[in-house]
Amino acid sequence: MADKFTHMDTRLYCYLLAHQPPEHDELKMLRLRTQTMPDGRMQISPEQGHLLALLVAAMAARRILEVGTFTGYSTLAIAQALPPEGRIIACDINDEWTAIACEHWKRAGVADRIDVRIAPAVETLGLLEAEGRTSHFDLAFIDADKTSYDTYYEGALRLVRPGGLIILTTCFGAAAWPIQMKTIPTQSLYENSIRRLQPTSALIVSFCRLPAV
Ligand SMILES: C[S@@+](CC[C@H](N)C(=O)[O-])C[C@H]1O[C@@H](n2cnc3c(N)ncnc32)[C@H](O)[C@@H]1O
Repeated sequence: MADKFTHMDTRLYCYLLAHQPPEHDELKMLRLRTQTMPDGRMQISPEQGHLLALLVAAMAARRILEVGTFTGYSTLAIAQALPPEGRIIACDINDEWTAIACEHWKRAGVADRIDVRIAPAVETLGLLEAEGRTSHFDLAFIDADKTSYDTYYEGALRLVRPGGLIILTTCFGAAAWPIQMKTIPTQSLYENSIRRLQPTSALIVSFCRLPAV
């Protein structure tokens, strides 16, 4: 049977990059700075940033939960799409990386929309539940250690409101995670997650990392 899908090769990817909306100057500066870092590949790509911003704007989302902030590209893309009263809780364990993030958030004028929580995200999610934030968030973006995805997903199901959105990255593997992909059944996590989703609860989407060019 003929393959009905167009394969994403470098040429097509470059075309898409060249024809997407312009990247905000501060996002670009942060992306280029992060690319020089040893772990720079962990950063989401510009088109993923556009997609996140589009989803936030389309949902008119105001309350966001992010697990895995790194140097803050996804956080910034989301924060810029929020209204001024919108808030994003950004969870990470590394305060050196989030310090870089803060510099760029401040320069972009959206730092007051971002509440950074430095602690293992499992703890932060538990704390948010203890604070009574069940069904509080419009959208959860999960982009952290794959070994805890199941816990993050379960936490997000409780914390995100019915009709909200849960986004998990890299469920289907990518070149950036060859070692983990050998050991972690993220594909089954995705399938199980879909099965456990209540009809009235949040939607789930997953996006893969595309190769950087
Ligand atoms: C793939 S990066 C996130 C990339 C980020 N979304 C971006 O756009 O640049 C994963 C992040 O998860 C964080 N992380 C790893 N284990 C964690 C944990 N147990 N709790 C919270 N954050 C964790 C890492 O410190 C790292 O910054």
